[in-house]
Amino acid sequence: MPYLIGIDIGTTGTKTLLVDETGAVKGSATVEYPLSTPRPNWAEQDPEDWWQATVATIRQVLSEAGISGSEVGGIGLSGQMHGSVFLDAAHQVIRPAILWCDQRTAAQCEWIHQAVGDEDVVAETCNPVLTGFTAPKIIWLRDEEPDNYAKVVKVLLPKDYIRLRLTGEFATEVSDASGTSLLNVRKRQWSDVVLQRTGIPREWLPDVYESPQVTGYITEQVAQLTGLKAGTPVVGGGGDQAAGAVGTGIVNPGVVSSTVGTSGVVFAYLDEPLMDPGLRTHTFCHAVPGKWHVMGVMLSAGGSLRWLRDAICQPEKEQAQAAGRDPYELMTALAAEAPVGSEGLVFLPYLTGERTPYANPNARGVFFGLSLRHTKAHLIRAVMEGVAYGMRDCLQIIKDMGVNVTEIRASGGGARSRLWRQIHADVTGQAHVTLNVDEGPAFGVALLAGVGAGVWSSVPEACQATIHVVERCDPQDSATAVYQGLYELYGRLYRQLEGSFDDVQQLIAATIEA
Ligand code: XUL
Repeated sequence: MPYLIGIDIGTTGTKTLLVDETGAVKGSATVEYPLSTPRPNWAEQDPEDWWQATVATIRQVLSEAGISGSEVGGIGLSGQMHGSVFLDAAHQVIRPAILWCDQRTAAQCEWIHQAVGDEDVVAETCNPVLTGFTAPKIIWLRDEEPDNYAKVVKVLLPKDYIRLRLTGEFATEVSDASGTSLLNVRKRQWSDVVLQRTGIPREWLPDVYESPQVTGYITEQVAQLTGLKAGTPVVGGGGDQAAGAVGTGIVNPGVVSSTVGTSGVVFAYLDEPLMDPGLRTHTFCHAVPGKWHVMGVMLSAGGSLRWLRDAICQPEKEQAQAAGRDPYELMTALAAEAPVGSEGLVFLPYLTGERTPYANPNARGVFFGLSLRHTKAHLIRAVMEGVAYGMRDCLQIIKDMGVNVTEIRASGGGARSRLWRQIHADVTGQAHVTLNVDEGPAFGVALLAGVGAGVWSSVPEACQATIHVVERCDPQDSATAVYQGLYELYGRLYRQLEGSFDDVQQLIAATIEA
């Protein structure tokens, strides 16, 4: 039976996994690279860094597992979504890629909404155009760097640029293409309406495949560079969220994931492209052929706890380093000393603005309710609880759309803490389970590669063969009752502070200008 490779072109680094046909991980390698912010709110990367990391990690997993490239049956690609790689006629990169977390395109989002019409934007793409998405980046290039715009012959998403380097083919797949604002998400093909009205040429975009379909084959030159075998198939793969969902088995109705990494994502499978009428969540194509998904995205979930660690937990970091432990273990042990509800201390986790439930770049983090009784333990616990309230907001919108939620699968760095899983279960009033595997998007696309290579006959079958529940965390009624009142207060606090978030933004802008 063949081995399978999954490659995830992430924002902090590229992770490559080698798995066998039971899903057992035989090799794992990560190479990190920088992110540049040449101006406030800009975020760029050099696609060459992704390529070097891809080659290095492929070589590393093959050597770690001690297998030859000819034993690899298929490769899947995942990556950070929404980024734009602009290529010229020689297929060379024109300028650094503009990333998903870049906020420079507010004016271009508005322009697209006007050019296409608000109703048609939503009817075609199932979403509003957001600053991080791809289409406004193309329009920004037209507006701000016309010389570069004049050179463009192709625009690719990050993982699809790596596909070009691996196979020589221009291709993408439906889940990642959904985040460009250029795909008709219902029809799973490029939107003629959006392309015509924005003047973006169809020829600039690659062909669109379903995620497990073979899109090309490893070239002779890449085989020599990496140790892979020429002719190894490369499947469509998926954007990091859809790929991560395949890797946690979110491929059937009722099963939902709650992933706390830097961001927090609640992700549900859909048989039909349902939308939140308030457009607070994203409706995208799933990596399961012919299916869709909806997700709510919090921008600072684990990122809030990391901020607190760096801001006030230096002693815990030092103790952890001396003991060879993870600082988060010491922080969560401290948080467990504070009572449920942190004695009325409520944290709003909007440190980098928010997407769901409020698409508000000006929103800010808040500690509300401080008193002399509050200690560092309360602060840590309040941050963990605030993130759980935000995840409940995402879950609630999805339930209000009529999605039945029978099981919540916790994953990501945040799910490693038993206390945090318990808080999520208590805040939502629903059990959270954990799985035998938590390897993220690279694992999901290794499974898609297995489907493309014929190891499994479908994506759900691949998940069933490799993923199962290992632990369950049930809600405790007394805690759920305490959290209900505090969750309602959390929602009121945002509404009461909304205007003040705009005020502080203006005041700070004035000091920077002065
Ligand atoms: C999804 C999103 C992130 C990025 C980076 O909409 O913005 O998941 O793909 O991880």
